[in-house]
Amino acid sequence: MALLEIKKAGDPVLKKVSEPVEKITKRLRKLLDDMAETMYAGEGVGLAAPQIGESIRAVVVDVDKKNRYDMINPVITHREGSVVDNEGCLSCPDLFGDVERAEKIRVEYISRFGKKKTLEAEGLLARCIQHEIDHLDGRLFIDIATNITKGKRDNKQG
Ligand code: NI
Repeated sequence: MALLEIKKAGDPVLKKVSEPVEKITKRLRKLLDDMAETMYAGEGVGLAAPQIGESIRAVVVDVDKKNRYDMINPVITHREGSVVDNEGCLSCPDLFGDVERAEKIRVEYISRFGKKKTLEAEGLLARCIQHEIDHLDGRLFIDIATNITKGKRDNKQG
């Protein structure tokens, strides 16, 4: 596995709408593993492919260091409730802000083995998945956050 360079806000790749993954290859699985290693090294809870310069619809998420989800072509098919919480992003170092997100979601995606999956998520997992899918649509949390502050904080970054 290898650590990848995380693209920072201002890099045009973060503003692009990512392309759907057409074929699951060994290269893609290695990319997902490298993304996960990069996420853990940065103490993040999620990472989207555009953040390492690949404009494809793939994300890794792990909010409890127990359950890692590799999601290919994820689509949110149901949203419920609304909650505001503080979040950060590995592409926007030291910035934190409040973002309103759905409290519960249902997401459909393809696993790294090509299986169609459905996941019901709430709390931090739901927040993180929404944050990562925003990356796939070229949206950063600082585009939608309020009360943005600078400085290291013990908030979750994705
Ligand atoms: Ni992010």
